[in-house]
This record gives sequence, structure tokens and C-alpha cells, in this order.
Amino acid sequence: MRAELVCGACGNRYTLDAPLTACACGGLLDVERPDGLPPALTTAVLDQRRGGRAVEDQSGVWRFREAVLDVPAAQRATRPEGRTPLYRHPKLTAHAGVAELAFKHEGENPTGSFKDRGMTVAITQARRLGATTVACASTGNTSASLAAYAGLAGLRPVVFLPAGKTSSSKLAQTLAYGALCLAVRGDFDQAMALVVEASAKLGIYLVNSMNPFRIEGQKTIVWDLLQDLAWEPPDWIVVPAGNLGNTAAFGKALREAQAAGWISKVPRLAAVQAAGANPFALGFADGFRARHRVAAETIATAIRIGNPVSWDRAVRAIRDTDGVVLAVTDDEILAAKREIDRAGLGCEPASAATLAGLRQLRAAGTLAADARVVCVLTGHVLKDPDAVATTGEKPVEIDPTVQAVESALKDWGA
Ligand code: F0G
Repeated sequence: MRAELVCGACGNRYTLDAPLTACACGGLLDVERPDGLPPALTTAVLDQRRGGRAVEDQSGVWRFREAVLDVPAAQRATRPEGRTPLYRHPKLTAHAGVAELAFKHEGENPTGSFKDRGMTVAITQARRLGATTVACASTGNTSASLAAYAGLAGLRPVVFLPAGKTSSSKLAQTLAYGALCLAVRGDFDQAMALVVEASAKLGIYLVNSMNPFRIEGQKTIVWDLLQDLAWEPPDWIVVPAGNLGNTAAFGKALREAQAAGWISKVPRLAAVQAAGANPFALGFADGFRARHRVAAETIATAIRIGNPVSWDRAVRAIRDTDGVVLAVTDDEILAAKREIDRAGLGCEPASAATLAGLRQLRAAGTLAADARVVCVLTGHVLKDPDAVATTGEKPVEIDPTVQAVESALKDWGA
């Protein structure tokens, strides 16, 4: 199966074994398959694999291996990841005001976020290329995933974090897995610019989502959820948007799934940003005439990003899927998080932007009451313990007496 790296800016082509994470011109590279996906990779084959016992089939990424990165099993760095649950909850469906609502919980990946799907592929590729040190800039989830997969593959992880702006649990997780954590005095966008420059100068393999192999892995979020739905696509897929790697990957996944005949209809994408970190929503509002940048601020630190890297790829994803981009306030994010948490699913603030965005789209009439919707929850509730304190949840301290229990229950309304 032919596959090559193609530059989205200048059209230059490279083999998949080129030791590059961006084009010589600075443009972003994409994996392209001029002959499409292998015809033998049918939904029937994928369904058979899904029921199988082989480790590669257990992975919700490597089950799609010929359409992701076709390498011998021994080369793969896998936990396995993916194959996350698709949850439904009547209260949340009613809250959103739609006919059908499901949550693809990517927070139930090995390190607690969707990043593992891209990382298993990027780290596999890093090892194939003979890299010894791997790096990323991160708001905390990519760094945790990178550190874990580097540990698995025997590579050295270096991460660039905006100083003081990463949740305590993401930082602890990244440190525990053994990464060199560089707390950059600046925001995520500055950390991102620094890692690009430093990795090029110091010969370090970069695994941010500008790396095309990350995108190849993240495509499988969409494929996995389509398979969950027996290849009956929903009307909408709602995803939080920060650096725009996922938005880009979702567009590519849908393009390829349709071309391969896995689905006959393409769902519309809704990319949801935080109001204080909304450059892509501003771009959408002006028809993507210009690339926007903002100084980002939001309680959803995972998407506290003002100058997203995968801009052009994501514009294509929105255009191809007749998609929309919108922004929700921090209050709306926290209110939606409370609903998701109390339904027993739980998620970190950035993930809750999906439900908040969905409600906004319903209220505006963009999305009809009979719509079938999937929201992608990108991170686990334990990823951001401080956000729980923000919504006012706290323990009630009591004396060790039944009377104190009784009075606490009464105050609680039970
Ligand atoms: N949700 C969570 C929980 C994230 O961690 C991120 C990105 C996003 C959504 C946005 O996804 O960047 O593909 O648009 N986190 C990155 C990180 C930036 O470093 O962990 P995107």
C-alpha cells in the first residue's frame, strides 16, 4: 500500500521513513495514500478483529493498522490503547435536548486522555527512525502520554510546559513516568515555539500533533466510534478544540472512511473552544479569511492555546464536513462538567466544552432536536482535581458520631 508524507504548504513529497516531523519549508506534513485505504480492510474485517484476542486487535488504534502505520508487530509501542467506552445517559441526553447523545470517553485511555492514540503511533515511528530523545510542548496531557510511551519504548522524554499553568495531577503523572519537565516561563504558545526550535537544533524527535503520525493515530477516535455505532454515522461529532490536532484528525478520518466505503454519510463536525482561547472560532466567524491569534486564558487549561498549530488542516476538516466552530464561556464549561460528573462519567473541564457547545448549537437551532450526536470526552475527571474545588464540591468534616452523620444528611437534603 503506497503511503507518503506530503507537505500541505509546498506540496513536497517524502517517504514515510524520512526523519522529519515537518517539511523543509516549515509546512505541516500529512500521510497520504494515493491509492486509498487497502480494499481488503473492510468493515467486516474490522468487526472480526474487534472480537479477536490478539493484542493488536485489542488496541483501538492498531486494529486499523494498515490505515494508520503498517509496521511489524514487534516495532509497535502499545499498551494497548483506544477501544474506549461509548456512554449514554438519559439525563444528559435530556439536558442537551437532542434525540440521541453518546459520549466517547477518551479519558479512559491508559494515561487518562485521547493523546495515547496519537502517541502510540508517533513513538513507534520515533523508535523506527532510531530516535533516542523525544519531546513535546504540552498543557499536560500530551506530556503525560509522551512520558509513558517513551518509558515503554526505552526513549528519553523531554517536555516543555507553560510554568504554573499545568494541572497538578498532569504534572505529577509526567514526572512519575520519568520525563525531564521544563517549566517554560511563558504560555503554551511560547513553549510550543521553543520546542520546535530546540528540537530542530538539538536533533530531538518532536511528537506534538504537528507530527503527522500523531494525526494518524488520532483518526482512530472517529473510526472506533463509528464502529461502536455499527458504522451508522451520527449526524454530529462534537470535539473540544485547542491546538486543533483532533479537529484535523477527525476530518481526515471521515474523508478516508467515506472513500473506503466504511460509511455512506459524513457527520458534521462541531469544534468547541473556550471563549478566552477562541482563535479558531474567530477564524470560522470570518470565513477563515485570516489566521487569528489570541492571548489565551481559560479555566480549561488543556485548551489554553492562542495560536493553534494545525490551523490549515483543521480548516479543511471544518470545510469538508460542513462543520462549525464555536466558543463557550468558563461558566458554561463548569456547568456542563458538573452534569457530566454527576452522571457518573466524569471528565476534565476541556472535555465538558463539548456538552456546553452542544447546548449552544441546540439553542441556536443549528442542530435539530432529532439529531444523533456523539461528544468526545478527551480527558479523565482525575486530570484536573483543582477544577472540582472550583465548582464548590468539598468534603463535610464531622465528629465520629451517628448524630453528626444524621445532621450532615439532613443539610444535604436527604
Ligand atoms: N481536550 C484535552 C483534555 C486536551 O488535553 C487537549 C489538548 C484538547 C482537548 C485539545 O485537543 O489540541 O487536538 O485541539 N491538549 C494538548 C496537550 C494541547 O498538550 O495535552 P487539540
